[in-house]
Amino acid sequence: MKIINQLKSGLILCICSLTSFAQTTKNNLPQLGKNSIQDVIAAMTIEEKIWILLGSETELKKPKADVAESNGIIGYTDKKVAGAAGTTFAIPRLGIPAIVLADGPAGVRISPTRPNESATYYATAFPVGTLLASTWDTDLVNKVGKAFGNEVLEYGIDIILAPGNNIQRNPLNGRNFEYFSEDPLVSGKMAAAMINGLQSNGIGTSLKHFAANNHETRRFSTNAEVSERALREIYLKAFQVALKESEPWTVMTSYNKLNGTYTAERYDLVTEILRNEWNYKGLVVTDWGAAKNVVDQVKAGHSLIMPGQYFQVEGLEYAMANNKLDVAIIDQAVEKLLALIVKTPTFKNYKFSNKPNLVEHAQVSRAAATEGMVLLKNLDNTLPIAKNIKTIATFGNTTYNLITGGTGSGMVNKAYVVSMAQGLTTAGFTLDPQIEQRYTKYVDSVEASRLKPKNPAAGRPQIPELKISDDLIIKQALLSDMAIISVGKNAGEGADRNLDNNYHLMDSEITLIKRVYEAFKAQRKKTVVVLNIGGVIDLASWQNYSDAILLAWQPGQEGGHAIADILTGKVNPSGKLAITFPEKYVDVSSAKNFPGTQGVDPLNVVYEEGIYTGYRYFDTYMVKPAYEFGYGLSYTTFSLNNLTLDKVNFDKKIKASITIKNTGSVAGKEVVQIYLSAPAKSIDKPTQELRAFAKTKLLKPGQSQKIKFTLTADDLSSYISSKAAWIAEEGRYTISAGVSSRAIKQVISFYLPIQLIIHQVSNQVKSAKPIIKEFTGK
Ligand code: BGC
Repeated sequence: MKIINQLKSGLILCICSLTSFAQTTKNNLPQLGKNSIQDVIAAMTIEEKIWILLGSETELKKPKADVAESNGIIGYTDKKVAGAAGTTFAIPRLGIPAIVLADGPAGVRISPTRPNESATYYATAFPVGTLLASTWDTDLVNKVGKAFGNEVLEYGIDIILAPGNNIQRNPLNGRNFEYFSEDPLVSGKMAAAMINGLQSNGIGTSLKHFAANNHETRRFSTNAEVSERALREIYLKAFQVALKESEPWTVMTSYNKLNGTYTAERYDLVTEILRNEWNYKGLVVTDWGAAKNVVDQVKAGHSLIMPGQYFQVEGLEYAMANNKLDVAIIDQAVEKLLALIVKTPTFKNYKFSNKPNLVEHAQVSRAAATEGMVLLKNLDNTLPIAKNIKTIATFGNTTYNLITGGTGSGMVNKAYVVSMAQGLTTAGFTLDPQIEQRYTKYVDSVEASRLKPKNPAAGRPQIPELKISDDLIIKQALLSDMAIISVGKNAGEGADRNLDNNYHLMDSEITLIKRVYEAFKAQRKKTVVVLNIGGVIDLASWQNYSDAILLAWQPGQEGGHAIADILTGKVNPSGKLAITFPEKYVDVSSAKNFPGTQGVDPLNVVYEEGIYTGYRYFDTYMVKPAYEFGYGLSYTTFSLNNLTLDKVNFDKKIKASITIKNTGSVAGKEVVQIYLSAPAKSIDKPTQELRAFAKTKLLKPGQSQKIKFTLTADDLSSYISSKAAWIAEEGRYTISAGVSSRAIKQVISFYLPIQLIIHQVSNQVKSAKPIIKEFTGK
């Protein structure tokens, strides 16, 4: 009661003083865009300043509709764009419009239809982040961003809540499909390319989720316990790299705690590191409903609390009334928000068409999908499909029901999906009608019998594999020229993947693969497995029962055509893994700490593996993976030669060049990967770390390309926690140029004569607990 009274008296005080101010300027109110942001802020009431920091859903939770309207704030109880994730408040008297924010990383997520309208609002489903990273082609990702961003603009959205840039620490994270890689350089470069492409349309992005948001189990309360070094070198690094090469209008903090404190409440993370150390000038927004301590969120450096809840208004008002939150901090937050609003299409009165060029964008989606598919296995040139093959027996539910992307906020309402069956048919193959009919009938009837989910984005359990009799398989092996089996797995926001039947294939899937393979082998015919998945799965239990494996990922709405493009050789595969596929799940360095200590609230997840995530672990600890980081086959072969450096001793930077030649018989592209091994003097270091990469242009047989790289002092450094500094230690450094982390083709070394302190920082990301004991190298 006392608190409420204090709040009321504080509020009345504020309202009185500001009302008198408002009266004096009544006829001559500053307007956003015409007057300076400072003038606009000076004319705002405390209520306006507080309300505008919260998303417009605050209005829905408000006990009575008075305060906001009386101050000229318009609350949108409905979103301006149906199905968008949120809007901000408008303050018309000061010329401040409401802006719209929508998901998500693989295409715009809005409602495809609206009540009483015949028009549709479908968006292009682009390939998921994991596939885009597997292209290793930043220009291509930029192109996807351009097309995708045009849909954002033309559907009246100001900020797209993408890209997702968390590290794929463990295969089971339900949202890995939205993210790029296990490696911070690949992740950061892909994120930057996407941001630059999206923002070239004059809309904003939201680089998310900052930081250490690497699993979904108990996502609102979980605590990630991470050492300063692992944070700096891996988890923050992905964001740091992205911010070096792009300027996202917003950064979204994550739900989780980091070392005992919510990331969204960490001044050290949001202001000291993101803003002061990395010089980030944009706006910081909370994740949706990260509704903990709103005062600390604003103090940490947020300018937008989404989607907004009324208790947050009360929290901010109370803190201000009780001298726990200075108006100067609120003003700073509002300033960032207004600076963002003036850049938006809404503010500029852009007349969006609601008619983006979906036909053109579908082609961008298809091209990107083909570039990111990874050919994992290809015995005896099973692929591309030989010219004499005409009829194909196609098995597996997802052959007919392609998974274009994951569930949750990363889902896209697309107008259509090209299935693999359609893709193969369009490419000229005959699919056995009996099988096709059975599968489509089965998939359709199971789908029809299931209750429509309340939230279509939530996703539904996988449909069990259709039972196909041995007789039918044997008949097919006689009639068809080849077998293709699709295996699909899906996951998404809110839950991690299940080890038993999402990471491992279900028994029904394994037996299907074995039976088909054996029946076709008996007829000297080939079996290809196509993986329609968003993240790493087990291969060991079944991969011997295949002649070829194409990792098609979740390839977006044109996926069926893209798969056919690769299988037929119309496009030569050039995708490379941006994440390691282990032999066994237990080989993953985070396996024993994932998803953390159960039964404790909050769930505590110790990042015991430290910096040894992904290939950093497999390569340093010499654990053999099924398919290593950077791996991917082609229909041609390449040679790498003449790795040269411009000097023998490092001095500020060093330039390397290498020549790649297509030594095979068809045109293709190769990805050159530059790994660096640094001297481990005062701390342990991974055997090697990716420091640069580039994809060649399409090289004709016999054609060569020279690729140049520059390594800077930054690239040589590691974070030494005891010195709170990025340091390049004196000694010999080795550059390994290869086509995967284990297919190194050329090696050269240089010397750093004296230790370089690259950046002296302070260990800002404090831990509530003593620092964890981590792996420390071989
Ligand atoms: C997700 C974000 C998303 C937001 C808005 C949250 O639950 O974590 O990635 O952008 O919802 O839909």
